[in-house]
Amino acid sequence: MGTVIAVTSGKGGTGKTSITGGVGACLALLDQNVLCIDMDIGLRNLDISLGLSDRALMDFSDVALGHCPLTRAAVTHPELKTLSLLTAPMYLPAALTADKVRALLATARTLYDYILIDSPAGLGPGFRLATCGADRALVVATNDASSLRDAQRTVAELSDLRQIHLVMNRIQPKLLRKLRTTIDDAMNAAGLPLIGVVPEDPQVILCANQGLPLASQGRRGASLACWNIAQRIIGRQVPIMHIR
Ligand SMILES: Nc1ncnc2c1ncn2[C@@H]1O[C@H](COP(=O)(O)OP(=O)(O)O)[C@@H](O)[C@H]1O
Ligand SMILES: [Mg+2]
Repeated sequence: MGTVIAVTSGKGGTGKTSITGGVGACLALLDQNVLCIDMDIGLRNLDISLGLSDRALMDFSDVALGHCPLTRAAVTHPELKTLSLLTAPMYLPAALTADKVRALLATARTLYDYILIDSPAGLGPGFRLATCGADRALVVATNDASSLRDAQRTVAELSDLRQIHLVMNRIQPKLLRKLRTTIDDAMNAAGLPLIGVVPEDPQVILCANQGLPLASQGRRGASLACWNIAQRIIGRQVPIMHIR
């Protein structure tokens, strides 16, 4: 049975979509069958992060509402054959309930090893739909006080989940030194165990703009960090990367 992982944060712009795309592609490169679901209704852009811009015709609400089977709605990546995307609708259909999303995820668990859900910002109805059927969560935060406070609030809303991990994104060691703070301080502020540290890396923006998955950039920078996170998700022991 597949595992459903919600990638969430509370605050917008912390890197949820980039991390979902980056880690999803790396899990596929690790021979896992992966479905990435964009649940950022109205503001979807996981297709861009995966290099699948505008390829999906049907979205996850079409599947949840029984208009289309999952196998037809999910778009397979042309280069990474074990990576698929189920995109988000532009509007939240009134009939889309948490039970329908849970039923969709129950089907997805029988077809995929990992189902990664890209959540919207905030703790509203979109967040609740994105997290209602998750087994575990990755909370993505950056090293600023508001992001870490929002991460803490997000964790309080996820108390049913057995595993919640912190991803520290856009880390710049120089800035950490200037702020006289450490990753340990961030972990304490968020109240979560760490699963990965992702450096500030222009490749994240360049890859998205060129329609390339971050994983296509070799094992360095943010791409290497996503590779390490994917390895930890499948249970391998990998040291936390040292960012210079
Ligand atoms: N590690 C990183 N290094 C550089 N830019 C990043 C990094 N992570 C995310 N970004 C950029 O930050 C912006 C917001 O990221 P995104 O993944 O869309 O966040 P969210 O989904 O949380 O709103 C995007 O322009 C993205 O390219
Ligand atoms: Mg996003």
